[in-house]
Amino acid sequence: MISAIASGKLILFGEHAVVYGQPAIAVPFRGVQAVVSTTPSDGGIVIRLPQPDELAQIALKKTATLVLDHLKLPEPDLTLTLDSSIPIAAGFGSGAAISTALARALCQALQRSLDNATLNEIIYEIEKLHHKTPSGIDNTVIVYEQPVYFERGQPIESFHIARPFSLVVANLPYATPTHITVGDVRQLYEQNCAEIGEVFSEIGEVARQARWAIENGAPTKLGSLMDRNHMLLQQLTVSDKMLDSLCEAARQAGAVGAKLSGGGRGGNLIALTTASSQQNVSSALLEAGAHEVFVTHIGA
Ligand code: PMV
Repeated sequence: MISAIASGKLILFGEHAVVYGQPAIAVPFRGVQAVVSTTPSDGGIVIRLPQPDELAQIALKKTATLVLDHLKLPEPDLTLTLDSSIPIAAGFGSGAAISTALARALCQALQRSLDNATLNEIIYEIEKLHHKTPSGIDNTVIVYEQPVYFERGQPIESFHIARPFSLVVANLPYATPTHITVGDVRQLYEQNCAEIGEVFSEIGEVARQARWAIENGAPTKLGSLMDRNHMLLQQLTVSDKMLDSLCEAARQAGAVGAKLSGGGRGGNLIALTTASSQQNVSSALLEAGAHEVFVTHIGA
């Protein structure tokens, strides 16, 4: 049996503003993964999901079709079985990760390979099914499996992490589909281009400074940039009461900084912690109502 894996992702800085051409920073999140395994089928491609999900079924079928088109191969008799620990629509890149794992498993089963640039183009097409107008950051970080400094339409850039740092990631008990928050931000922007455009620029500046802080090993600076980014996301109306109160609970418990991550209004948040505050922050987040918490080490 052949199987292939893709990890989830976390956006550290710059979500939403990235749709408008500002830079954003994202990293692979190996704490959650999608795995696709292949076995022979009785006829054509059969996709098995852990639970019924019409959109995922359509998206995975289309992924397989695009891969086969690129490889100029007919449909093989294969069952592709998905197993995923990535919460759906929670800002961990579930859609991009399951398609990436499926494309990789299909290529392996056919003893072919696709370069990352081609795979990234395919997964971007699939992202449009999930998110309508994606910036492309999710598929890029998941396909390339490395930290990315992402700007729409620019060549992919990775960066150096001078000093590893740890995040506590909290998954909320609810999420809002990304295309809804992205649509609301667009409406806000159309109503007030000057003011909201200024918020986007400030978020872009935060992402640029965050890259500097990561490349120069300055965690305290990084924490205050996370707080600032969260405040700017509040101005875009994509935070909500629970995200705000969980971020505050994390700070009170010793986090150096905290912000929502991804589309917002539920989903997930990240808190920058030191070794000594990690446990406190995790407990505080669970007590304040987080559904799950994970600890992840970036650059370790
Ligand atoms: O997939 P999510 O929920 O992590 O959000 C993606 C980030 C956005 O900037 C909100 C949208 C996009 O396409 O970049």
